[in-house]
Amino acid sequence: MTVKLAVSNQKGGVAKSTNALNVAGALASKNNNVLLVDTDPQGFATRTLGFTGEYNTQTPNLADAMNEPTDYDIQDIILEHAEFDVLPSNVSMFSLQQDLIAAGWKPRERLMMLFEQLEGEYDYIIVDAPPSLGVINDNVLLACQNMIIPVEAMESSIHALDILLNQIETLEERYGVEIKQSAIVISNIHYPLDNDQKENIEFFRDTFEGRCPVHKIRHRAAVKRSLSAGGSIFGEEAEDTDMKENYLQLAEDVEEESEVMA
Ligand SMILES: Nc1ncnc2c1ncn2[C@@H]1O[C@H](COP(=O)(O)OP(=O)(O)O)[C@@H](O)[C@H]1O
Ligand SMILES: [Mg+2]
Repeated sequence: MTVKLAVSNQKGGVAKSTNALNVAGALASKNNNVLLVDTDPQGFATRTLGFTGEYNTQTPNLADAMNEPTDYDIQDIILEHAEFDVLPSNVSMFSLQQDLIAAGWKPRERLMMLFEQLEGEYDYIIVDAPPSLGVINDNVLLACQNMIIPVEAMESSIHALDILLNQIETLEERYGVEIKQSAIVISNIHYPLDNDQKENIEFFRDTFEGRCPVHKIRHRAAVKRSLSAGGSIFGEEAEDTDMKENYLQLAEDVEEESEVMA
């Protein structure tokens, strides 16, 4: 069984890509066969992993495959990275949302159809979602039905989460599915905390207590530098950081939960 996990929050800069890359890296370092999927038209994860050329020129690409899901073999678009496989984003993803709406036919179920081609090929598919609540993000949530939500210890993150949870409920009702929240990851935390940050962290803890684990990831230069080196903190080029432990714990939670689901 392939477990699919969306890293989604429409707010920009909350560490979606950073968490997607490091969760993928942590799972791969624990001997899982992992695919990282980049659905952000801006392609930050794709370019970070060294696939800028493919991001600009690959044909066919993820946008083509989502436009005509039965016409393409998704395996042909997947690239190999040292840590895990990558289904890269592409510049043409910018017009995908409009194309899907114009087509009218199952605009939110395209990624789900493509993932059916990969069933059993991977232990985990980790999807880096775009920074907007549109058709692409809906595709990601419906294809995975399982998500990690990165947030920041800020008031604006609480508001964004409220809107995201509303959208999840709408999708659940409309498509008759359950989109499971597997973890909240309070990300890029700068210590020492001020009172506002402390209160916001408390809020996330209280809100999700008993529902799903709430993880904390600190701001670390090494986390940023590993991205500049073209991989996760588990990559060969990456310098050591104490956040490895945090991401391994997150990966372990994901593994345990997938055993329960299986
Ligand atoms: N734990 C961390 N330590 C240091 N920098 C971080 C950390 N998490 C995120 N960042 C930085 O914050 C910025 C936004 O993160 P990113 O993953 O691109 O967010 P998103 O994908 O949600 O837009 C990036 O520059 C990233 O390097
Ligand atoms: Mg991103």
